[in-house]
Amino acid sequence: MPDTVPVYRPDLYSRAAILDPHPHYARLRELGPVVRLPRHRAYALPRYAECKAVLRDHDTFASGGGVALNPVTNRMSRDTTLASDGADHRRRRTLLAHRMLPRALRTIQEDVRQRAAETVAAAVRAGTVDGVTLAAALPLSIVPDLVGWPRDGRDHLLDWAAATFDALGPLNGRGVRTAPANLAMLRYTRALVRDRALLPGSAGADVLRAADDGRIGPAEATALMIDYLAPSLDTTIGAISAALHLFATHPGQWEALRRDPGLVPNAVHEAVRYESPIRGFARTVRRPVELAGTPVPAGARVLVLYASANRDPREWTEPGTFDIHRDATRQLGFGYGRHGCAGQALARLEAEAVLTALAERVARIEVVGEPEWLPNNVIRRYARLPLRLVPAR
Ligand code: HEM
Repeated sequence: MPDTVPVYRPDLYSRAAILDPHPHYARLRELGPVVRLPRHRAYALPRYAECKAVLRDHDTFASGGGVALNPVTNRMSRDTTLASDGADHRRRRTLLAHRMLPRALRTIQEDVRQRAAETVAAAVRAGTVDGVTLAAALPLSIVPDLVGWPRDGRDHLLDWAAATFDALGPLNGRGVRTAPANLAMLRYTRALVRDRALLPGSAGADVLRAADDGRIGPAEATALMIDYLAPSLDTTIGAISAALHLFATHPGQWEALRRDPGLVPNAVHEAVRYESPIRGFARTVRRPVELAGTPVPAGARVLVLYASANRDPREWTEPGTFDIHRDATRQLGFGYGRHGCAGQALARLEAEAVLTALAERVARIEVVGEPEWLPNNVIRRYARLPLRLVPAR
């Protein structure tokens, strides 16, 4: 690796850096557009422009070698949509994404709104709630039904989702400790595909049909089920719980949202910008390139730090300010380009439904205890968020 590239030695994946990552991102952004992380044998991209350029150029920056920071997960995830390129990626993504396009989601829109209204009404009755439980209610009730996951097999879903994200970081203690959970999820999913145990009419049933028709192989069918489920829970819970905390700590913004609920879609983007649920994924460089004047050799791994790009002062005015009036739609928290989040319309529908229901019924959100972040290599979400919901008269 060329030694003109700035180096950052602190561990981005230490517990302290995971719980308080933004000072690390700020230092990385100051060091330069491309920063070497010797500990992780990768180049970090902490600024917005380079992150977007890399996500756009999927021919040069491949996902096919895996997007994790360790070779074990990269090997295990090679049948997924996330970790594929070209024709493999197109085939998998087409199969997966059509159920989550805005047109397809129209059929469940009313149901999502109804469930959000019920969840919020119960939370308002309770008065004091854990914001994480509130944020989890909708994803946990919508996604497993959409995927067709058996009703009696849902107990471990959240643990498995967190384990998947831990495994997408480096092979540190946290990543290694998740091996049993990841294997359990793989075994369970394989059995579902083998026994055809997915709910009829679901997205999972589509995947089984594609396997029957020979459009995908059995390993791909299992991987696609995991593709659907693993990234869909913690991420959305992260976005909704971050929004709850942000509105609790910015009462003026909450009042603005209540006055003008038309701001809800942008508020969701702003929450994802401000506390991006996925901190970063890697790419493999296919040919020698220059990024902002920095030469990067073929075979190198670059780490696209969505969470840092979303706080880059070169792109955003006062990036550390939560402001639902700014145009946040270009934030990179859902990725960008060909691998941009396939489930973002669903995630946004869920988050918007919860915020809209809350805005109708809640005058103020208050933090009533110490929030705790979940220690996870890749996902940023609260583990605990004690809130009081003060009802509107
Ligand atoms: C707030 C919630 C969410 C966030 C922040 C988020 C974030 C992301 C990001 C950053 C990527 C890009 C990966 C890359 O660049 O390599 C991605 C991809 C993906 N997401 Fe999401 N996601 C969310 C919700 C969901 C949901 C609800 C689902 C499914 C129901 C989902 C399924 C996927 C899939 C399948 C991909 C892989 C797409 C591909 O490689 O073509 N995500 N997501």
